[in-house]
Amino acid sequence: MKKIIVGSLALGAALFLSGAAFAADGAAIYKSKCAACHGADGQGTAMAPAFKGSEYMKTAKDAEISEVITKGREGAAKKYKQFALGMPKQTLAEDEVKAVTDHLRTLAAK
Ligand code: HEC
Repeated sequence: MKKIIVGSLALGAALFLSGAAFAADGAAIYKSKCAACHGADGQGTAMAPAFKGSEYMKTAKDAEISEVITKGREGAAKKYKQFALGMPKQTLAEDEVKAVTDHLRTLAAK
């Protein structure tokens, strides 16, 4: 009996730890996939708009933001004339899109 309890505790701990290790890290995804265009702190660059203090971020719902991330915004869908190129669609898992969207909210609020 004792063995079973100890065993299941260990399994529980292992599952908990692996869950934590694999959870999508919004800040890391942002750094590797978005920062080059949107700026390390979401301040924007000559390539792409800022999130910090952005009107868009104040009004856009999470679902709209996720859609821009997964579908991109290029060609006729482009909104800003000052950026020569559009927003390329990103290949990310659903939990990664959510994590990076949450991170954009953090950047926008700073
Ligand atoms: C190659 C440069 C580039 C990369 C990389 C990039 N973006 Fe963009 N992004 C843009 C441009 C350009 C726009 C504006 C397009 C337009 O004119 O509507 C944009 C727009 C957006 C918008 C809408 C903002 C607004 O004010 O309407 C969101 C949200 C966004 N990007 C999120 C991301 C996220 C998250 C990533 C990383 C996973 C990312 N982008 C990576 C160039 C980029």
